[in-house]
Amino acid sequence: MANIFPKWMNALPTLGAVFGGLGFVGVCAGYMYYFTPDYWRVGYEPVQPVSYSHQIHVGKLGMDCRYCHTHVEESKHANIPDTSTCMNCHTGVGETAYLNTQLWGAHKINPNLMKVREAYSSGKAIEWRRIHKVPDYAHFNHSVHLHAGISCFSCHGRIDQQAVVRQVHGMGMSFCLECHRNPEKSLVDADDVITNDLPKITDLSAIEALLTDPKQAERGLAIARTKQLQPPQNCGACHY
Ligand code: HEC
Ligand code: HEC
Ligand code: HEC
Ligand code: HEC
Ligand code: HEC
Repeated sequence: MANIFPKWMNALPTLGAVFGGLGFVGVCAGYMYYFTPDYWRVGYEPVQPVSYSHQIHVGKLGMDCRYCHTHVEESKHANIPDTSTCMNCHTGVGETAYLNTQLWGAHKINPNLMKVREAYSSGKAIEWRRIHKVPDYAHFNHSVHLHAGISCFSCHGRIDQQAVVRQVHGMGMSFCLECHRNPEKSLVDADDVITNDLPKITDLSAIEALLTDPKQAERGLAIARTKQLQPPQNCGACHY
């Protein structure tokens, strides 16, 4: 009788188990890599109800972050400005008188600015979509970090170059801890960054230049020592 099952086939169940096992590990690893919040939040760039551009307002017009995110230095949360802040300029007769008549003419028919003015006159807030978010079981405080000498640049990147806000760093636990272990790489003294005669921790291009300078580690360590900074690594500091 012919041998229906050749001898080599005896190895099949073992091979199947081995490759099956590897496949399973692969699927798990892939799943963990692609579906952890770190991965899917980086680059998150939702479509906003009004296409507001940081590139124009900060990059081109040179506005300070704190003109709009007014509470970021004193509070846990950075606020999103209300429509009245936009109307300081977009009425065309605002305190800053940024818009000359020519610009105003062009702006009247800009659909995005029409939405801003409609929102203002109806009193209904523009519903901006949230981009950066740590989960409820972790705690983050803007004011502490800014006073320590960490610039918006270290966590949010070059927002001044973004027409649409995008998350550039994963805000997972490893991002927090990496800096808490070696804060000197990111610490700046506001007095080292002077724009228009004022110290500006929000001048992102100047901060970027400072942080990539070879002397940064030394400078950062000196700041950490003077301010006696102690970024926590114990679980209870962030989870409570
Ligand atoms: C003219 C006002 C204005 C200025 C100036 C401004 N922003 Fe914003 N910012 C906004 C508005 C409006 C939003 C919400 C819409 C959006 O996400 O684009 C926003 C959103 C953001 C977000 C995303 C918030 C989220 O949902 O996670 C970050 C981060 C941010 N700004 C950082 C900065 C930084 C850093 C600067 C300075 C370099 C700055 N902004 C200057 C108005 C401003
Ligand atoms: C300090 C004055 C000032 C403030 C405050 C301000 N803007 Fe502007 N905005 C300008 C100027 C000036 C321009 C025109 C810049 C250009 O086209 O180069 C402009 C342009 C725009 C445009 C049109 C951009 C395009 O695509 O041409 C939109 C939309 C806009 N702003 C939305 C907003 C919103 C929303 C806010 C509030 C969160 C705001 N602005 C706050 C001065 C301001
Ligand atoms: C040490 C890192 C870090 C620095 C520095 C930092 N941010 Fe943030 N930012 C975050 C994190 C994390 C969140 C999400 C916070 C949350 O979910 O409570 C966030 C959220 C935001 C938001 C959304 C609203 C909010 O508070 O949740 C805005 C707007 C913002 N940041 C603006 C700024 C500006 C402007 C600066 C500089 C003046 C700045 N941030 C500096 C990490 C940072
Ligand atoms: C780029 C550097 C950097 C990053 C990123 C960073 N931190 Fe910090 N953090 C610091 C420094 C520096 C201090 C020390 C402040 C001090 O000693 O006054 C600190 C202090 C803290 C504290 C203690 C003060 C307080 O608020 O009670 C907490 C909690 C904290 N960070 C949470 C976080 C979390 C959560 C994240 C991530 C979402 C984060 N940090 C990301 C640099 C950073
Ligand atoms: C500097 C702040 C900080 C410290 C210290 C910290 N965590 Fe976290 N942790 C976070 C943040 C922020 C997240 C949310 C990450 C995200 O968005 O996925 C997190 C997430 C977690 C998660 C959810 C799973 C994950 O990894 O995303 C666990 C579990 C956790 N932390 C346990 C711990 C334990 C245990 C310690 C002490 C050894 C600790 N954490 C210390 C900030 C911190």
